[in-house]
Amino acid sequence: MATDLFEIEPLDATFGAVVTGVELRSIDEPAFEALHETWLEYALLIFPGQFLSIAEQNAFARRFGPLEFEAVAFSNVDSEGRILDDPGHDVVKSLRGNEGWHHDSTYMPLQAKGSVFTAEVVPSRGGATGWADMRAAYEALDSATRKRLGGLQAYHSLYYSQGRSGYMPTKNSGGGYDMYGFHDLEPSLRPLVKVHPETGRPNLLIGRHAYGIVGMDDDESEAFLDGLNDEACRPPRIHHHHWTVGDAALWDNRRLMHRGTPFDMTEPRRMWHTRIAGDPASELADNHPGFEQRSGVDVMGEDTLIVS
Ligand SMILES: [Fe+2]
Repeated sequence: MATDLFEIEPLDATFGAVVTGVELRSIDEPAFEALHETWLEYALLIFPGQFLSIAEQNAFARRFGPLEFEAVAFSNVDSEGRILDDPGHDVVKSLRGNEGWHHDSTYMPLQAKGSVFTAEVVPSRGGATGWADMRAAYEALDSATRKRLGGLQAYHSLYYSQGRSGYMPTKNSGGGYDMYGFHDLEPSLRPLVKVHPETGRPNLLIGRHAYGIVGMDDDESEAFLDGLNDEACRPPRIHHHHWTVGDAALWDNRRLMHRGTPFDMTEPRRMWHTRIAGDPASELADNHPGFEQRSGVDVMGEDTLIVS
């Protein structure tokens, strides 16, 4: 969309834009409405030089709807300033697990709508975040595959994704972390093709948490999903952002997958992640129709460990 309220520089991909000329901490209603439209169009917006406080980040995210949870640190630095680089530490495992492509909170009964993510401390190199466009991926499929996918559902679980990647937390970190998302409900069952509730466009809903397609045996399902993920997450449908302190990113979790990338964990990195709750009318799992999500404030303690 065209607007004279801020500048939009599209990325070299099927999605995404860098937005400048706007202050997210004080954006007025007309500019916010234009920004919301821009978000739906591009799905990923990157805002350099915002330097949002935690409160400002949460307030901005709340303009898109209720929060699944307020800003939490995604960091290899603990609350006492110690760098966590032991591969066996649960925090390190969670960060490493995030390096697989995924949509946030598909393992919960209510999938996330989107996220605001900001950079406070960045390593000298590495640690980029990647996004992948599942609308473009769906549109790139041949019609027979699209038709086949149309009726399929898969389960989503952190037990599957973290277990398969070898990063299952063991609560051995000594910090008494709660494990967000490792719930004992039935794993969430979701369609492989999700119609975006605001654009009406179909998107693949896949990623590392998805497994166990209904009607396939485990090996067949895993091979099928691996092939789908691999094909989906290729240029021009991917973009990686190399962070500068003060950057903010906003993405649409209903359309995009994302992932972290490795960095030298002897260097500190601290990112802040605010997760916007999905709309129960469109983001509830097929097998949890009556679920009512408590707010993150209720379910999370100071030491809750988020595996994304
Ligand atoms: Fe994530």
